Amino acid sequence: MSDAWLKRWDNRYKSHEFAYGIEPNEYFKEQVQKLNLGTILLGAEGEGRNAVYAAKLGWSTSAFDISIEGKNKALKLADENSLVIDYQIGQLPDLNFQDEYFDAIALIYAHFPPSIRLVYHKLLCKKLKKGGTVILEAFSKNHIAYKNRNPAVGGPSDIDFLFSMNNVRADFSGFEILELVEKEVELREGQFHNGTGSVIRFVGKK
Ligand SMILES: C[S@@+](CC[C@H](N)C(=O)[O-])C[C@H]1O[C@@H](n2cnc3c(N)ncnc32)[C@H](O)[C@@H]1O
Repeated sequence: MSDAWLKRWDNRYKSHEFAYGIEPNEYFKEQVQKLNLGTILLGAEGEGRNAVYAAKLGWSTSAFDISIEGKNKALKLADENSLVIDYQIGQLPDLNFQDEYFDAIALIYAHFPPSIRLVYHKLLCKKLKKGGTVILEAFSKNHIAYKNRNPAVGGPSDIDFLFSMNNVRADFSGFEILELVEKEVELREGQFHNGTGSVIRFVGKK
């Protein structure tokens, strides 16, 4: 991982404001509520809006990210809500989450660099119990046109960081697909996701 990549995220999270707000992502909220409570892992969880929501519902909640600034804000948000989350910092292969431990894994705008995306997704699959659920929302490759029209909607500008339904099918091969769609959504998430965008939504069962 480059220093510039890490700095980009630390700088984004340094300010007092929450970059993507403190409310959970709408799709995550809708899907996680359908599941039985258990253990959940949130990947690339930044300032913790989704982790805190899961913990509030009663999930035993773990999260990871590369940004210590994100972790600090996530733990503060959890503390303000009298909640505890296990939040690890670093690159996934170096972290010590147990295999086959989680009932659910959520990836919300987890746009990992293309060189590591497949490795990350396969490793995350290992951390999930058999019968466990993955919930994913991320910008689609068609999002570039939306971002060009309205930069305030955010998201990566490099098409290789964006998702197609085929990426999801390949990375989560062997999963039962409960939902896999590409759709236009209206985002109102903090300072950095505002406007109409194109996303991939996926719920799959291992
Ligand atoms: C768009 S933010 C999404 C944050 C959060 N999931 C949310 O929805 O509010 C993308 C996150 O990916 C994290 N990230 C980027 N590369 C990563 C990597 N190699 N491993 C773990 N996290 C990474 C960044 O630090 C950042 O917090």
